[in-house]
Amino acid sequence: MPAELACFRKSCRARFPVTDVLYSCPRCDSLLEARYDWGPLDPSELKETWRRRRLDNSPLNQSGVWRYRELIPFLDDYAHVVTLREGNTPLLESARAAEYGGLRRLSFKHQGFNPTGSFKDNGMTCGTAQALRLGMRRVACVSTGNTSASMTAYAAAAGLQPIIFIPHGNISYGKLAQALEYGALTLQVEANFDQILALVRSLAERLGIYLLNSINPFRIEGQKSIVVELLDQRDWRVPDWIVLPGGNLGNVSAFGKALRELHELGFVDRLPRLAVIQAEGAAPFYRFMRKPREGAFVAEPKPETLATAIRIGDPVSWPKAWHEVETTNGVVEAVSEEEIADAKAQIGLAGIGCEPASAATLAGIRKLVAAGVIEPEADVVAVLTGNLLKDPDYVYRYHTGQLKTASGGAVRGRYENRPVVVPNDPDRIAELLAAPRG
Ligand code: F0G
Repeated sequence: MPAELACFRKSCRARFPVTDVLYSCPRCDSLLEARYDWGPLDPSELKETWRRRRLDNSPLNQSGVWRYRELIPFLDDYAHVVTLREGNTPLLESARAAEYGGLRRLSFKHQGFNPTGSFKDNGMTCGTAQALRLGMRRVACVSTGNTSASMTAYAAAAGLQPIIFIPHGNISYGKLAQALEYGALTLQVEANFDQILALVRSLAERLGIYLLNSINPFRIEGQKSIVVELLDQRDWRVPDWIVLPGGNLGNVSAFGKALRELHELGFVDRLPRLAVIQAEGAAPFYRFMRKPREGAFVAEPKPETLATAIRIGDPVSWPKAWHEVETTNGVVEAVSEEEIADAKAQIGLAGIGCEPASAATLAGIRKLVAAGVIEPEADVVAVLTGNLLKDPDYVYRYHTGQLKTASGGAVRGRYENRPVVVPNDPDRIAELLAAPRG
């Protein structure tokens, strides 16, 4: 199955060997994507093969990414694959969350069940395989936290040296702890994500370090499997909407590419609509998509949100994301800090839980249903991108009324749940438990 790298820009479309170390088009500097000459593929046969592989104990088939390898055929030798059994994440229905969002039913594709607790693992197993195939020794990324945790774990498992660049003071301890524990050389830079990405791009080239941010097209190939697995779990019933948070916009690019390819190859007969949700303080894509034809993409110079995973003002993948949102007749919405925080508490009360950025999905759904964009009867899947335990500090502050924005404004949560200090006294505790709970 021949694979190539192709420039994403329509007017260029230059092609390069899949083994070139490239992150953007050498001719026009646009984004690159993997392209395949698919040859004959039989969708119904493959759907059955993928089902059968779930029962097989080989590492490749136990991976929720490589199980679908016919759709990501960029390797010529699977000996390069390092898998932590990524993917295999559940699709969880919640009546409670559906009601909060204004829907009759809602399910969550929970990527927080991944080995390092976020959707990045789906992409990282592919990025790491490509690094090994290219003979690279060191890998690097800039990250708001999850990418660095994931890259470090996969690099460690693969015997590569991980170097991570993170915005000083702006990533959650859960994520930083993971990177330290998996052994990353950790550089805390006094700059924001967007500034550090420019820095890391130039350093990677200069020092021959393989870059594993989502501009790396092989990361995107891996993240396609989130959509494939989701459809497999639904017996290939296409939902009306897939809702996901948007930061650097790699994930929406991956989802759109997966959907286009599945449609083109005959796995599905229609496309769901993509809804991308950003935090109000870091919403350049939302603003651009309100009037996409009127001008250039304007970056947000000072992105701010307590959902630090999506605190990004200059998302590199916006041209791809634009294309994918348009192709699926999708929408982009922005939500406030309060809306994210309360939606997150609701996802917690459903027994599911997630990190702040992931909860932007339910907040966005609530807003889009209220605005009449999403029908209450619609069949909706929201993608929870990260685990609840990624950011325990946020959770504690929310439930104890101490959550504050960067500018010091209080985020008033509606679903606070304060711990109660009690004396070591059974009578007093019995008294307390007899009282009705607020
Ligand atoms: N949700 C979570 C939990 C994330 O960590 C990210 C991105 C996103 C959503 C947004 O995805 O960038 O593909 O639009 N985190 C990156 C990181 C930027 O460095 O971990 P996106």
